[in-house]
Amino acid sequence: MKLFAHWIVAIAAIATMPSALAELPLVIRFSHVVAPDSPKGQAAQRFANLVATRTQGKVRVDIYPNGRLYGDQDEIAALLMGSVDMLAPSLTKLKVLRVPEFEVFDLPYLFADIESAHRVTQGQIGKDLLGKLAPHGVIGLAIWDNGFKQLSSNRPVHMPTDLAGLSLRIQPSKILETQMKDLGAKARPLPFSEVYNALKTGAVDGTEGPVSNFYTQNLHLTQKYLTLSNHGYLGYGVLVNKKFWDTLAPDVRIALEGSLKEATTYANDTAQRNNEEALMAVEQSGKTKVIQLSADEKLAWQKALSKVHQQTDGRIPKELIERIYQESGYHLAAVSMR
Ligand code: LMR
Repeated sequence: MKLFAHWIVAIAAIATMPSALAELPLVIRFSHVVAPDSPKGQAAQRFANLVATRTQGKVRVDIYPNGRLYGDQDEIAALLMGSVDMLAPSLTKLKVLRVPEFEVFDLPYLFADIESAHRVTQGQIGKDLLGKLAPHGVIGLAIWDNGFKQLSSNRPVHMPTDLAGLSLRIQPSKILETQMKDLGAKARPLPFSEVYNALKTGAVDGTEGPVSNFYTQNLHLTQKYLTLSNHGYLGYGVLVNKKFWDTLAPDVRIALEGSLKEATTYANDTAQRNNEEALMAVEQSGKTKVIQLSADEKLAWQKALSKVHQQTDGRIPKELIERIYQESGYHLAAVSMR
């Protein structure tokens, strides 16, 4: 009789298990390398909030910022292995998925302003590039802005020639190496998580990046000057592991897509403001002197960097570069520079 009662309890427990499991939220692990209050950090958080609302808590997005879970060196491998579900690496970092075309975004002065960047990233070219990722196990869902890169160092830099001999941190990229070489500087590819220490210990003399990353990584505590060169664009590809995506129920996928659409609008509407606020914070810190360039100095930068566009050594198809020029208006800007 006692045994029978045990059986009843056990059967009852098993019978209630599926519904208990059904109530567990589906967790999406979203890892990134920047601070929570950077443009990417804030957009990821907005995405997580939207997903929670749209799925009424059935799906939860857990965010791992600051490379806490994975850094530049291993995050894409982790995504492919399914150790993490979503990432948003900078566009140039996507080339390790065997889509070298993503390095095109490193070309200096490719976009005169954020609107011309959006015509490419949010238009057909952006879609086509993201579409190239699927055969490599990853779905490219969206492109988010950070913004335009500035140049920091412990030497006041006005003209490109002021960089001669400096060792400058870059993201791993042949185009960025060429860019630094053309400026007379030494390019030092380093993972993002190592930049602060490399600057602090003097292993490198300076770096490039949007002010939002500069400020939220405390780089202003290590650098005396920040030159507002706006010499390149930094954006992100929002990625999800394809196998994981394919297992999702259609209604979950719809909710995620809708949330991402809204989060993308938010990301691209607020990134510029985030960079402006970071610039004010850097100025107020009194640690780093911000250098504005005169019109002549800006032109000198554009001229010094224009030949990088002819030095891509066939890694990026010419047609893609031409297509981007047409969309961004770079060809017009280049003509006016001559
Ligand atoms: C960098 O390595 O400088 C950036 O890609 C970091 C980031 O994700 O903004």
